[in-house]
Amino acid sequence: MNKQQFIKDLMDKMTVREKVGQLNQCGNSIYNDDYKVGWDLLREGRIGSFLGIADVERANEMQKVAVEETRLGIPLLLGYDVIHGFRTTFPVPWTESFSWDPDLARKTAEASTMEAAANGVNWVYAPMIDITRDPRWGRGVEGAGEDTYLTSQFAEARVKGIQGDDLSDGKHLAACAKHFVGYGACMGGRDYNTADMSEQTLFDVYLPPFKSAVDAGVRTVMSAFHDLNGEPCTGSKYLLTDILRGKLGFNGAVISDAGSCDQIKIHGFTESDRDTAKTAINAGLDVEMCFGIFTFQDNLEQLVADGEVSEEMLDNAVRRVLELKYDLGLFQNPYKDIEKAEEIVNLPETRALALEAAKKSVVLLKNDGILPLKKNVKVALAGPFADNRREMLGCWAGLGKAEDAITPAEALGMHIVSSSEDCADFDVIIAFIGEPESMNGEGKSRTNNVIPEEHMELVRELKKSGKKLVSVIIGGRPLVLTEVCELSDAVLFSGALGCEAGNAYKAILTGEYNPCGKLVNTFPSVVGQAPLFYNENNTGKPPVEEFFWTSKYIDAPIKPLFPFGYGLSYTNFEYSDLSVSDINPKIGDKITVSVRVKNTGNYDGEEVVQIYVRDVVASVTRPKKELKGYKKIMIPAGETKTVEIELDTNTLGFYNRSLEYVVEKGDFRIMAGTSSEKYIETKITLK
Ligand code: BGC
Repeated sequence: MNKQQFIKDLMDKMTVREKVGQLNQCGNSIYNDDYKVGWDLLREGRIGSFLGIADVERANEMQKVAVEETRLGIPLLLGYDVIHGFRTTFPVPWTESFSWDPDLARKTAEASTMEAAANGVNWVYAPMIDITRDPRWGRGVEGAGEDTYLTSQFAEARVKGIQGDDLSDGKHLAACAKHFVGYGACMGGRDYNTADMSEQTLFDVYLPPFKSAVDAGVRTVMSAFHDLNGEPCTGSKYLLTDILRGKLGFNGAVISDAGSCDQIKIHGFTESDRDTAKTAINAGLDVEMCFGIFTFQDNLEQLVADGEVSEEMLDNAVRRVLELKYDLGLFQNPYKDIEKAEEIVNLPETRALALEAAKKSVVLLKNDGILPLKKNVKVALAGPFADNRREMLGCWAGLGKAEDAITPAEALGMHIVSSSEDCADFDVIIAFIGEPESMNGEGKSRTNNVIPEEHMELVRELKKSGKKLVSVIIGGRPLVLTEVCELSDAVLFSGALGCEAGNAYKAILTGEYNPCGKLVNTFPSVVGQAPLFYNENNTGKPPVEEFFWTSKYIDAPIKPLFPFGYGLSYTNFEYSDLSVSDINPKIGDKITVSVRVKNTGNYDGEEVVQIYVRDVVASVTRPKKELKGYKKIMIPAGETKTVEIELDTNTLGFYNRSLEYVVEKGDFRIMAGTSSEKYIETKITLK
């Protein structure tokens, strides 16, 4: 029997109450003793999915109740936040994006999903593809930074890694692109806060990663907590139906964020839970992720009886959920092999991938030549993160265990010092400092995005020793690193690198691996620069330090400390001979940008060659530059390579005031370089 027929036959047998049950998701509190009622609801077929069950025995137990004890035997969706690993912890997504290697992200997502799948999870709440332009917001750590093009690439890769080609192959699961949409634009960088932006910004900047996820076949999307332009996302028909389904072509299931459905009332958008349920389902929400209040469960049946929600609307939502369960193969077999669940986690090949990912996820910010460490130097370690396993894992670490993590001290086997006096016998001190994982992630907005004072005091103290100082900074957001960079002879930066962190640092510090990460956010030089991002508009008074009447601050520099795309290597790269295959292309043509890159240093190294474009004159003001392509290449010491990057002129457009996507003729600057600030350029004229 084919899928449509199977689902039709099943739905023909379902009562309205059972249908509503499929749209109801409960938390894992069902395993609390005081929550017995959850099991009754489950037996009555009134719960279609659960959140946070990541235990194979419990998963099997719950599936058994759903399949054997409910009237229709419909298996459960079991959702879990597999953000950067299930048990094997990979680098946090933000820092993994420093690799500019989406295929790496595809592989780590796939490996994480394999572990989760073996443990009974069937729905992964990732990837997070919100654009983050404000370092105060704590959730940038889950995404891929400030750039739309790069985030879109990572969105596609991560969706493909989670879902594979076949959801029922036992290794891949349903992905969930989140949080729809504009969540990172919360005012003041304060989590859950209102976002208000022009429609053009929404379409140009925030929607494309979701389009990319939809095109990659993402099966589910999570609606965000906040209100955007006057409507809570979870109750917005404009966002969930007109845009997501209408314009982006999504035909999977939409789930609310945890409690974001009942919060529609708290936003002041609906009067009652009943009104909320009606508003949300009519807006296009399919599944309510409940957090204490169950607006669908408590109201939808009556709303259908009263004709305020059509049965067709209800059926559409139920069908999407059942199709997902069908495609996941849950009707054939909802159970997982308990023995295999433990066997499949933390495999040597998964650990090897975690190490590869960790090495690629680090950015060298400064180096006066002290790195890589010479063989004969005497090195000591310092800092609160030098031997702290938990900090290696980072936030949202799933089932990652601190005991699985390797610290720098363990990998390097070096002495740890804590004051300048202790440093006497050493030539180089490496301080592992930064922002603890407890300071980033959900709800962790900070007004003061700096390294905690105790860590800075240690750096100042170590500096007194007069020894060479290397600062290795771990952080979950763009931190203000001005002072630490001044005090240090070399600086490495990354987010939490996961269970293989120590080994990755060892490889980089000793030069066994040449760092090649590039920042995916602009790093401020002072706190008050937030929000900031490289692809801002030119303004009518672009900042010029010497001229007062230009767009800048009177008490701080306008320049960031490090620009988007920045990252050093143990070698140097020199760019020359930038050319394009056609300087007068027609709209719709594809052209090739080519540039010669020479490795002028003594180490083989990988470089991310970045292509930025500026539309010089347009019918709406356009960004100073926008990333439109890049290529990561290995260039042996002393060699030169010609790098060719295809540029589709269709991608040089934008949404105009009438919200039409247009590519306009005229001049475009084409920039090729090692960061968004250091490039050579040429020009094309689009006919
Ligand atoms: C977060 C989501 C997450 C959900 C379930 C929410 O608080 O915003 O990203 O998927 O919880 O854990």
